Order: sequence, then structure tokens, then C-alpha cells
Amino acid sequence: MRDFSEQTLTQAVLDRVAHASNPRTREMLQGIVRHLHAFVREFRPTEAEWAAAIEFLTRTGHMCDERRQEFILLSDTLGVSMMVDTINHARGGAVTETTVLGPFYVNGAPALENGADIADGLAGEPLFVEGIVRSSDGAVLRDAKVDVWQSDDDGHYDLQLAEPGKFFLRGRLRTDALGRFWFWSIMPHSYPIPTDGPVGELLAAAGRHAFRPAHVHFMIAAPGHEKLVTHVFVKGDDYIDSDVVFGVKDSLVTDFEQRTGTVSLAGEQIDRPHRYLRYDFSLRNSQVRPAA
Ligand code: BEZ
Ligand code: FE
Repeated sequence: MRDFSEQTLTQAVLDRVAHASNPRTREMLQGIVRHLHAFVREFRPTEAEWAAAIEFLTRTGHMCDERRQEFILLSDTLGVSMMVDTINHARGGAVTETTVLGPFYVNGAPALENGADIADGLAGEPLFVEGIVRSSDGAVLRDAKVDVWQSDDDGHYDLQLAEPGKFFLRGRLRTDALGRFWFWSIMPHSYPIPTDGPVGELLAAAGRHAFRPAHVHFMIAAPGHEKLVTHVFVKGDDYIDSDVVFGVKDSLVTDFEQRTGTVSLAGEQIDRPHRYLRYDFSLRNSQVRPAA
């Protein structure tokens, strides 16, 4: 076939990918072709505009390395990451809600004992965090892996500031026999996502701010359970209703109380001013199918 027109070209490309042996690959390739062609027919980009789009994606790729993931930022700021989250995780029920992973997770963060201070001397308002990890059937989960990471008092992550291999404000805890975990930190701060790359240009072009409301990240894993990726957001933050990546869910917003004294879940008496976060997590038991 030759001499394709606006009308016949799409079908010709669809036919060309119709023999992909994996049915999911075939359907998704055809979907991409249909949607992309429809977009081009609708907006009729000039050749210069299309070249600019390709150049934008090329620069996005060139910006990526082990410490910077511009494609995740693109997906996040266009709401695609949260669309994937929404499709894959039903709302409500007995399980803690999920939100975006973001680009600052590190697999292999330092293993810490409960009670450790992940701020390790950094300036900021002291924050005591504790909680219990349970299965969706109610049983406490011992020895669950609890990865935590957060921004500093200025809204920066270690990956943005520290030398490679040096970490702060992150770590991996394990729940004790009663499913409890606890650690010291400092209050996280709201922050702009990195804007010195193509995604920053896109936000500026759209007249959007780049901020995320303050939060602490959690990734919790236990055998026989779906891994939970979520954050807990600070109630009252200025950006709670305009998160640049659309990641806020009501059930994840909580008061980081101002306190002068606390008796922790483990029975420890804390006698100095601090902020207090208690948040319990519930992981979906993978043997139990969610109701349709
Ligand atoms: C984060 O919360 O670390 C994050 C999430 C999405 C984009 C940028 C940062
Ligand atoms: Fe974050």
C-alpha cells in the first residue's frame, strides 16, 4: 500500500502492528497509534511544533540518571502517575490508601533500629513518628519492612544535596513483635519539585506552581501482602489542595500534633517539646481478593 491519506494512514499502521504475538502488547500498541493519530489530526501541529515536541522528550531523557528521573516528574505532573494509582487501587475499605512513589525513593536505604533519629542532627522541629502495621484482616504484622523518606526543613531531599551514597532523612525500619515501628525526625517542609529541566518549563508554560504539600513517605512490605506505597501529609499545609502531582487523599492527611509530652506506644516517656505523628497502616492481604 502507498499514497496514504489522513483517513487511511491510521488503519495502515494499525494493520502493521496487528500481528504482535502478545495480545496485551498488540492492544496497547494499537491504542497508542489510535490516540496519537487522533491527537495529531485534531491539533494539526506544524513540522516545527512536532520537532519541538520530540526535542522536549529527548531533553527529558537526557536529564535522567540514578539521581534524577525527569520522566517520573513528567508522568506525575501530568496526572498520569495518579491515574495509574487510581486504576490499580480501589478507594476506601480496610486498606491504607496509596499515592505516588515519586523520584526520591532509594532502594537500599540504611537499615535502622526503631527509635533511631533519621535527621541525625539536621536543623528543624523535632518530630516523633510511630505506628502499627496490620494486615487487612486485622492481624499485626511483625518484621514488616518500613522504608521512610522525607524532605528537610528547607524542602530538599538528600538526593538533591548530599554526595552519592550519603543519605539523610531516610531509612528502613522493621516492625517489632507487636507490629510497631517508631523513629525520630524533623518536620518535613513543602517543596517545589525540581524545575530546572523540561518539566519545569512545562509547568511555567502552563502557569502552574511546582509545590508539593509537606509529607513523609512510607513504603511498607510484608510477606503475603501487597506492598504499600504512600505518604502521610501534614494537615493545614498551604499546598494541601493544589499538590503539583495530584497525590493528596483525605485519608492520608493528618495532624502532626504540637506536644510537650508523650508516652510512646512502646511505653517510653518523652518530655521535650516535639511534633507527634501517629499513623497506623493496613496492608492488603494478597490471599484475600477485594470485593468487585
Ligand atoms: C515526592 O514526593 O518526593 C515527589 C513526588 C512526585 C514528584 C516529585 C517529588
Ligand atoms: Fe516527597
